[in-house]
Amino acid sequence: MRIGILTGGGDCPGLNAVIRAVVRTSVKEYSSEVVGFLEGWRGPIENMVMPLTMQSTGGLIHRGGTILRTSRTNPFKLDRGPERIAENIVKNRLDALIAVGDIDTCSVANRLHQEHKLNVVCVPKTIDNDINATDFTFGFDTAINIVTEAIDRLHTTAESHNRVLVCEVMGRKAGWIACYGGIAGGADFILVPEKPIKAQEVVQAIKTRHSRGRDYSIVVVAEGARFESPDGATEASELSAEPTHDSPSDSSSIGNQLARLIEAETGFETRATILGHIQRGGAPTAFDRVLATRFGVKATQLVHEQKFGRMVALSGSKLHDVAIEEATSSLKTLDMELYRVAEVFFG
Ligand code: F6P
Repeated sequence: MRIGILTGGGDCPGLNAVIRAVVRTSVKEYSSEVVGFLEGWRGPIENMVMPLTMQSTGGLIHRGGTILRTSRTNPFKLDRGPERIAENIVKNRLDALIAVGDIDTCSVANRLHQEHKLNVVCVPKTIDNDINATDFTFGFDTAINIVTEAIDRLHTTAESHNRVLVCEVMGRKAGWIACYGGIAGGADFILVPEKPIKAQEVVQAIKTRHSRGRDYSIVVVAEGARFESPDGATEASELSAEPTHDSPSDSSSIGNQLARLIEAETGFETRATILGHIQRGGAPTAFDRVLATRFGVKATQLVHEQKFGRMVALSGSKLHDVAIEEATSSLKTLDMELYRVAEVFFG
């Protein structure tokens, strides 16, 4: 067989481990060949390819990012995008394509399978952990370890200065990183997109904590968190307090807005840290290396079993496969039972 592989959507630690596993399994177990498409769906549209061998993919397990590079290209938004992909699959004599990506990448793969009859298998990845039908995506564990370490560091400086430190983490629509990272880091309040709160709730929690003799606090906020307005609707912000110190470049981010509100309402000196892409960079954790490797091996097996239109997934400690559609029809938002665990430690 000849198999194509691409990585799409935002990068995350573990992508190279999948590529390595797919190549190794294909060559060693099935005497198959693998070709890499560059820059997500742009690769098969523009026929940007690179041969992948055991030699060229050795020593990749610890490397973050993706040697195939990535993009957020959507072929269905481009002129003859899907048709060009089909043509280039034929041109490269490929029997199947493995798409490693987020919910958008997998949704495209599903449409290519359903509407254009392409032989596609998906591997789910994202630091956000928001893909349905799998307990975890690789990249997430690395991200929450980075967040935890950052919060540990914020703790010592917050305590030294009697400050409130707000830590903004990734997660536009799902609060998995905020909740796991916040619990692990011992956050005193966590704001997630799934549970808009009244601004006064966080203010009150900090006042309560400080009235118990604590002189510092750590607040974790997901980038997509929103406040609830008095009429119950959610809005980007109800905050208007002006900055009282030099703000980082994006003063409109939720982290900065929250820091200004907390300082204005409590009188406690407050600073914001936006972790941003640091959460996506660097080497994968052992958990992510193993999960990514297992996903890569399993996806290659699915291809050779001709189980197309399927996505590899983790359920408990076992791998299985699901229809791509099952994973992409909706977003996996935060398990609110986990948030209730976090709430025990607020205030
Ligand atoms: O999907 C992963 C993710 O890191 C999100 O958490 C974040 O909102 C988004 O990507 C950032 O995208 P970009 O790197 O394109 O700015």
